[in-house]
Amino acid sequence: MTDTCTVDPREFRNALGAFTTGVTIVTTCDAAGRDVGLTVNSFNSVSLEPPLVLWSLARSSASLAAFVEAEYFAVHILGARQEALSNLFARRGADKFAGIELERGQGGVPLLDGCAARFECRTAYRHEGGDHEIFVGEVLNFEHFDRPPLVFQKGGYAVAVKTPAAKPAPPVDASAPESSISRDALVYLLGSAHAMLLSKMRPELRARGLDDDDYFVLNVLAAGQPRSVAELDALMAYAARHVSAEQVRSLASRGLVLCSGEGDALRASLSEPGRRTMLELAAVSKAVEEDALQQIDFSEAHLLRHLLKRVIRNTAQGVPALWSSHSSKSIGRSTA
Ligand SMILES: Cc1cc2nc3c(=O)[nH]c(=O)nc-3n(C[C@H](O)[C@H](O)[C@H](O)COP(=O)(O)O)c2cc1C
Repeated sequence: MTDTCTVDPREFRNALGAFTTGVTIVTTCDAAGRDVGLTVNSFNSVSLEPPLVLWSLARSSASLAAFVEAEYFAVHILGARQEALSNLFARRGADKFAGIELERGQGGVPLLDGCAARFECRTAYRHEGGDHEIFVGEVLNFEHFDRPPLVFQKGGYAVAVKTPAAKPAPPVDASAPESSISRDALVYLLGSAHAMLLSKMRPELRARGLDDDDYFVLNVLAAGQPRSVAELDALMAYAARHVSAEQVRSLASRGLVLCSGEGDALRASLSEPGRRTMLELAAVSKAVEEDALQQIDFSEAHLLRHLLKRVIRNTAQGVPALWSSHSSKSIGRSTA
């Protein structure tokens, strides 16, 4: 090659990182019958007739000899939930196949489960490609599954979400009351979503003799520490709700809350029956959430949660930590 431009490797990597790819794991067996594999995003399609695919392997890879000698290899296009597997197979020297359930393909090549698509290939050609070896595989067999793919962009994992033009959002209920707030305003959309989710939980709350305020208090107490009435009231104030000693005592009289102290020193914590009730309601909340996420695929739901957390973080200045944190015990995990 002549006129090769000299590049700053980091800049070159950064520029290449603008090209969004899927993530694959390519596997084979070495001459001794040992399973070999690594994470690869240089995979691409080459030809439909005959069916050919390619990928490139760093000459420095510990797997080079195995792939050069092997007649067959398999390419697994990873699903959105396989980030950990991708990291494992990107680690040199790791015991990559330990404890992983495998099937066997052409030539005994290890086949992984849980991916979005899988191609069994015979090495058709190999080409020198600078510091990489390019493998072109003839596809002998392939499968694809209804799973969203894992995506790699700018040096990090991502999920693929269809653009609104490709998947238009249906209009929201036209019977919603007229108001000056645009139906696209976040305050309208988030408020409506919250109200709808809570309305689906209400029958289960009522069946347990609980109203919305009780549920909010129990949710706060389920986060762990005992709270005074004043603390509960301060936490609820952000949701325009108020907590009284009377309400806390009423929950105690129903066995859901334990009280200690009197007057200003009154503190409430969740009782064992209260904890069981909250576990049941967590299952109800999960079912309501699953119902609400119908026809919203994994990647979209992941993005929705991520964006909502950012909106909460951006608006949470001065708000008690319980509302803005997202520990698994916090109220933020429930539909409340
Ligand atoms: C998302 C991602 C994509 C990668 N793509 C490639 C690739 O296309 N070719 C390659 O040789 N290494 C690639 N790697 C790096 C290898 O997975 C990594 O160097 C691995 O340790 C090689 O394993 P081995 O040395 O045991 O063969 C990639 C790593 C990641 C995380």
